[in-house]
Amino acid sequence: MPDFAIGETDFLLDGRSFRILSGALHYFRVHPDLWADRIEKARLMGLNTIETYVPWNAHAPRPGRFDLSGGLDLGRFLSLIAEAGMYAIVRPGPYICAEWDNGGLPAWLFRDPSVGVRRYEPRYLAAVREYLDQVYRVVVPHQIDRDGPVLLVQIENEYGAFGDDKRYLAALTQYTREAGITVPLTTVDQPVPHMLEAGSLDGLHRTASFGSRSTERLATLRAHQPTGPLMCSEFWDGWFDHWGAHHHTTPVEESASDLDALLAAGASVNLYMFHGGTNFGLTNGANDKGVYQPLVTSYDYDAPLDEAGNPTPKYHAFREVIARYHKVPDSVPPPPQPAPTPTAALRDPVWLLDAPQRWGTWQTHEHLPVFDELTPIPRLALLRTAISGDHPGVLTFGEVRDRATVFFDGHQVGTLIREHHDRAIALPRARGELLVLVEDEGRVNYGERIGEPKGIIGGATLNGRELSTWDILPIDPAAVPDIRPGTGSEAAVSGPLAGPVVIRAEFDVPRPADLFLDTAEWGKGIVWVNGFALGRYWRRGPQRTLYVPGPVVREGTNEIVVLELGTLLDPQVRFVPHPLLGHTES
Ligand code: GLA
Repeated sequence: MPDFAIGETDFLLDGRSFRILSGALHYFRVHPDLWADRIEKARLMGLNTIETYVPWNAHAPRPGRFDLSGGLDLGRFLSLIAEAGMYAIVRPGPYICAEWDNGGLPAWLFRDPSVGVRRYEPRYLAAVREYLDQVYRVVVPHQIDRDGPVLLVQIENEYGAFGDDKRYLAALTQYTREAGITVPLTTVDQPVPHMLEAGSLDGLHRTASFGSRSTERLATLRAHQPTGPLMCSEFWDGWFDHWGAHHHTTPVEESASDLDALLAAGASVNLYMFHGGTNFGLTNGANDKGVYQPLVTSYDYDAPLDEAGNPTPKYHAFREVIARYHKVPDSVPPPPQPAPTPTAALRDPVWLLDAPQRWGTWQTHEHLPVFDELTPIPRLALLRTAISGDHPGVLTFGEVRDRATVFFDGHQVGTLIREHHDRAIALPRARGELLVLVEDEGRVNYGERIGEPKGIIGGATLNGRELSTWDILPIDPAAVPDIRPGTGSEAAVSGPLAGPVVIRAEFDVPRPADLFLDTAEWGKGIVWVNGFALGRYWRRGPQRTLYVPGPVVREGTNEIVVLELGTLLDPQVRFVPHPLLGHTES
């Protein structure tokens, strides 16, 4: 059986010095029918390894469940890597950051706020152990010493940026070994002395994450990892985007020369990302360092392979850099072709406020619950209560996470936005029915706010008096495409249209192909094509098009369903030949 070890100066594969040239590729951000294509393109760029995180909350949407089907078939992903003749690195967290909802931690775990987050706390650790056992059941047979591709497994993720609980790191290491992981274990930290110190544990190989000033960063890492191979476990060759900000790009020459410096220093590398993919569905995370900033749907990352799996100038530049040190395959992937541009008119609208009971089931609560008190935890919910005051008042919430649209007697009053720290709104009349549509826009994935609850936090008051007795209607986004108009309702629509509304269309394509849906004339919402949730769109930008992976598209007629929460300026479906991810900084 092959053998992989950490030597005095290098990684050793069967006793011989081996440099890891890895690219991050998250199976959960790529349609499973495209995994093999993306892996092959990594090989053609000259990489020898694929790295992936494992998102706990995607595999375990509720307690007691562990889904390994379809796009979550980690075992199949590892087999495809092996079939391509490549190696693998697995980073199961349990916390992964990754601009992923809650950094991968399941929201249900923190319903009880006394459950610890990323620390040695018995209930947190019991859940973590169960999760790791399930992941490692998949990974163990794919390890290199069992003739599989897996070379390394990482413990936690940039833990030194969060905590310094060594007992926690030791417990994770123990669970990993007891589950049968025999390959070397690593940690990764930002190359800052106190983080490298806090995030590491003796016996685990320390690596670093950075995207520039390679020589200096490697020197910092060396001070904390005196022997063995130097490895940049996350070479940031691009960056992610927030709604309302610009689209990030990094200059090709700069990234290529930083990669060159890394390779010249003899270091191993994992490109973060080789291919970013997409935050399909409602999987995006958010940042909050004082202002909440949700992540966009695209995770293109300005990576060498773009969101649609096409090579970019960075791909070719990196391949050239790698070729200075190692042999690279002769062929390269073909350049992108323009995508088909069908059009269609949206029709058959069904408005939420016309008959909310068709969107879910009302449940009554004596006080206003946060989302995390409900089962399952909703991402979207309608709240209802009766108002009977003496004069029009000010409705105040403790905190809005993350967006609340307020309706009074069926008329929209306004929207409270977490980014603006909004939490109060004037109601137009003293008596009537109050409806509030609340949306979770993605859980924070980095820092102290990981695991925090969603919904309306701290209840609601009217002129300082608590509003009790609420009807709550959780809306299951997965069921939205099935909401169809009743017979006799108005089918065709024109001009601007106010949501919340579900509306649909059919469009034709001659053959399956990647598509780029132009959402510029729509407001804010979620889109499905043939039942596959593409993700969120928002006129706020910078992202303007949504990527539709080819395997989702059918020859002939395709169905598109749009959940518009704001306003559709033009109820038309339009596709464009190339992605539009928005304005850049320069
Ligand atoms: C850190 C994390 C990654 C990711 C990057 C930024 O390195 O470890 O998961 O969040 O930052 O993209």
